[in-house]
Amino acid sequence: MDSVLVIDFGGQYSQLIARRIRELRVFSELIPYDTDIEEIKKKNPKCFVFSGSPYSVVSNGGKAPAVENEFFSLGIPILGICYGMQLMAKQTGGKITETEKNEYGKTRIDLELDSPLFKGLKQKEICWMSHKDSVGELPQGFKTIASTPNLSVAGIEDPDRKFYGIQFHPEVVHTPSGMDILSNFLFNICDCTPNWTMVSIIKSETDKVKKRVGNSKVICGLSGGVDSSVAALLAHKAVRDKLTCIFVDHGFLRKDEAKQVTETFQKHFKINLIHINAGDRFLKKLEGIFEPEQKRKIIGEEFIRVFEEEASKIKEAHYLVQGTLYSDVIESGTRNAAKIKSHHNVGGLPEDMRLKLIEPLRLLFKDEIRMLGIELGLSDEIVWRHPFPGPGLAIRIIGDVTAEKIKILQEADSIVIEEIKRSDLYKKIWQSFAILPSIKSVGVMGDERTYAYPIAIRAVSSVDAMTADWARLPYEVLERMSSRIINEVDGVNRVVYDISSKPPSTIEWE
Ligand code: XMP
Repeated sequence: MDSVLVIDFGGQYSQLIARRIRELRVFSELIPYDTDIEEIKKKNPKCFVFSGSPYSVVSNGGKAPAVENEFFSLGIPILGICYGMQLMAKQTGGKITETEKNEYGKTRIDLELDSPLFKGLKQKEICWMSHKDSVGELPQGFKTIASTPNLSVAGIEDPDRKFYGIQFHPEVVHTPSGMDILSNFLFNICDCTPNWTMVSIIKSETDKVKKRVGNSKVICGLSGGVDSSVAALLAHKAVRDKLTCIFVDHGFLRKDEAKQVTETFQKHFKINLIHINAGDRFLKKLEGIFEPEQKRKIIGEEFIRVFEEEASKIKEAHYLVQGTLYSDVIESGTRNAAKIKSHHNVGGLPEDMRLKLIEPLRLLFKDEIRMLGIELGLSDEIVWRHPFPGPGLAIRIIGDVTAEKIKILQEADSIVIEEIKRSDLYKKIWQSFAILPSIKSVGVMGDERTYAYPIAIRAVSSVDAMTADWARLPYEVLERMSSRIINEVDGVNRVVYDISSKPPSTIEWE
């Protein structure tokens, strides 16, 4: 399988470049610019793409990120984008100058259509620029292939070495012909084969798992979310009966979720599944606990304990399958944020379990995992399910958790989801759910005074959960939710809608 390495200099679109290349069915990986060159050579890349960067090649006191010069003598084609083009020009002998005029946003560009990079494009195109510096002097062997009214060198090529550079961003939608440019680079210039498909991923990942595991047994922690479900199906395809999934039901799942998970995996896929119904055990641990962080910690620890107890009963199990995805891998290398909440990931089990990790999804983005799930025959219900926090409804019940509150919240939540689905909004928003604040207010039903809980509805749009905006749900949808929740769920007499964005709020209330 051909692979394209996107050398990452920290540009805001670096991930997007890798995604676009994958959309063209060529495998692509993001690699930090200072990765050891020997490691890079081992990956046997078909070509490199150098990303953009917040740095300037000329004005960072020599501290701007650069690659080892050996990159340029490997005989591997390179496409430099923005900073990537300037860096390539500089490291191959050109000169970069600071321009007086910055260029940002949509720009008209003139292209030299003789260049194979621009095959099939128009001579004048629109592109998305974002730069300060420019190539003042071309390196030997290069010529200019694009320009704008403010920038005489907006694209360069050295066709002999197959080095190409563009000052603009082909990966963003604001460059309408951007995908054609990437496609020209991959297929016309580098002879890549577009064979990275879901079917090929399934084959290569199952082969890898099979080879690694040999005759050992494999365990998988199943949460019911799409990532662990797809990881389990892949592992099952590879090792069949040697796989046992452990589904720890902490009692804080959505309505009917446990039933759906067990039916899907036991009945439909016939996977060995241990279903631990530990609701009472968790509830007892949370008795009288109000503080969110304390709740999260208790649930996280108890979860591990239950999981370990079960895992230790499976003899000869040496491997643990986890549904780690690519954004976790990328972020864990760079994330330096203050701890807002201690996230309890169902997959986040302790390393001292002495089980070796298998992470078959570690190079895939969320939407690719969904596609893989569909290819593997996973139901729509699981494939498109909104993200759900590890501690579940326990952190959507504000304050102490009781069996009564769980029941109320499950019912209210299922109405929210039903109405969102009925309005065809489910796939369009990131998350939608109900929250139960542990306060009561006065209402009137018939001629009777009521004193009952309110339900808060939360629906947000987001791309990565790092930031989120409250969803502008139509009034009719909100009205239906409100009226149904108050009429159908005992113990609720008021419904409110959360209109806060993240930041400064967070998506979950605890
Ligand atoms: P916040 O509330 O921090 O949530 O804005 C961001 C995203 O993370 C989910 N979330 C969790 N996921 N374990 C998880 O696996 C957790 O403990 C957890 N807490 C929050 C949340 O649903 C949202 O998608």
